[in-house]
Amino acid sequence: MASSVTSLSFLTLFLVFFSISLLTEPANGATCSSQTFSNNKLFDSCNDLPHLESYLHWTYNSSKPSLSIAFVAPPAKSTGWVAWAINPTSTGMAGSQSLIAFHHSNGSLIVETFNITSYGPISPSPIAFVVSDSSAEYSDGVMRIFATLALPVGTTKVNQVWQVGSSVTDNVPDKHAFQTDNLNSKGTLDLLKGESTTTGGSSSLRKKNIHGVLNAVSWGILMPFGVIFSRYLKTFKSADPAWFYLHASCQFSAYVIGVAGWATGLQLGKKSEGVTYTGHRYIGIALFCLASLQVFALFLRPKKDNKYRIYWNYYHHSVGYAVIVLSIINVFKGFDMLDPAKKWRTAYITVLIILGAIGALLEVITWVIVLRRKSGNSTKPYDGPNGANGYRGRQQPLSI
Ligand SMILES: *[C@@H]1O[C@H](CO)[C@@H](O)[C@H](O)[C@H]1NC(C)=O
Ligand SMILES: *[C@@H]1O[C@H](CO)[C@@H](O)[C@H](O)[C@H]1NC(C)=O
Ligand SMILES: *[C@@H]1O[C@H](CO)[C@@H](O)[C@H](O)[C@H]1NC(C)=O
Repeated sequence: MASSVTSLSFLTLFLVFFSISLLTEPANGATCSSQTFSNNKLFDSCNDLPHLESYLHWTYNSSKPSLSIAFVAPPAKSTGWVAWAINPTSTGMAGSQSLIAFHHSNGSLIVETFNITSYGPISPSPIAFVVSDSSAEYSDGVMRIFATLALPVGTTKVNQVWQVGSSVTDNVPDKHAFQTDNLNSKGTLDLLKGESTTTGGSSSLRKKNIHGVLNAVSWGILMPFGVIFSRYLKTFKSADPAWFYLHASCQFSAYVIGVAGWATGLQLGKKSEGVTYTGHRYIGIALFCLASLQVFALFLRPKKDNKYRIYWNYYHHSVGYAVIVLSIINVFKGFDMLDPAKKWRTAYITVLIILGAIGALLEVITWVIVLRRKSGNSTKPYDGPNGANGYRGRQQPLSI
């Protein structure tokens, strides 16, 4: 018994560390260095920007001084726009001196300058920098903006902001989406070092990834697994009382990892200025309360022959299933917010399908066993150690 619990804990730890190491792997080798341009333009530096699959190629001529750029990004839709800006007064969108590429209603892809002062409606206007040689290209789903900006003498760093949007109305770009990626697409370009850094970007991204992994593994995978242990293993006489220990240790490790993940979530929530993800937050808090209730209720459960035990069982199962459903919903809400590479969502959906298939298979096996026992041995079928047997369709409720 002890050995299976130990190996379960090791498996869990392995899963957690394996996924964290995958997610926090440093990017080795910039993608932008392999990008070339059809007009054969060459730039001194390039940076893989950390959001919106965007890239910046640039050359700084300190004697003019000027900055020549090629900004590369996929618009949110083919009818959309891409933008790159320098913000001389602040770090966000307000105040950004922008170059925006989009399709004019006459069909040409054009670049226009916008002095963006607020989230309100925008209109083309001169910007704080003299822009020359501006042009744009669109191919393979990617837009490219080329331009040269005259910078004030002595500039060593600029705040850059970039963005993509999905539509244009009357030759004016419409509002962009407000996903995490859209809100974090800003940073500093160090013209002397050739570096692009994001304001709090990568370390906060790592925290978000750790939060995601801890919670997906605990609430999203281990807890449903623990339910499967209790629901199906107790059909087998030989699995008694192993199922109970497996269920309890699985749920307890899930709870411990889950609380750690929950705490990282609270921290992230505190730090996220301006944006609050109300739904995800409230579901997370509800989950923590319900799961804590489950853990403490375990110690308060009446003896199996107590007449109130049946109510405890009802309570335990309904709260348990509610936790599972809410957990899965919140994992998907988390995916929407964090918007990680598609493979993570796919991997999680695959795990859910596998868990579902295991559950369905075990459900069938359980029924076959129950029916056999009924016909073979007309006395009562096997009862779990707690006096309930765990088959659907019988009067006795499931119990742990
Ligand atoms: C920088 O600009 C100056 C003035 O226009 C020009 O003479 C020089 O060749 C440029 N330097 C580079 C590296 O392009
Ligand atoms: C479309 O309009 C833009 C902006 O007025 C202009 O620069 C461009 O030359 C026009 N293209 C065509 C094909 O007329
Ligand atoms: C941009 O708009 C702000 C606010 O209206 C204004 O103060 C500023 O002078 C404008 N910048 C340029 C270059 O027109």
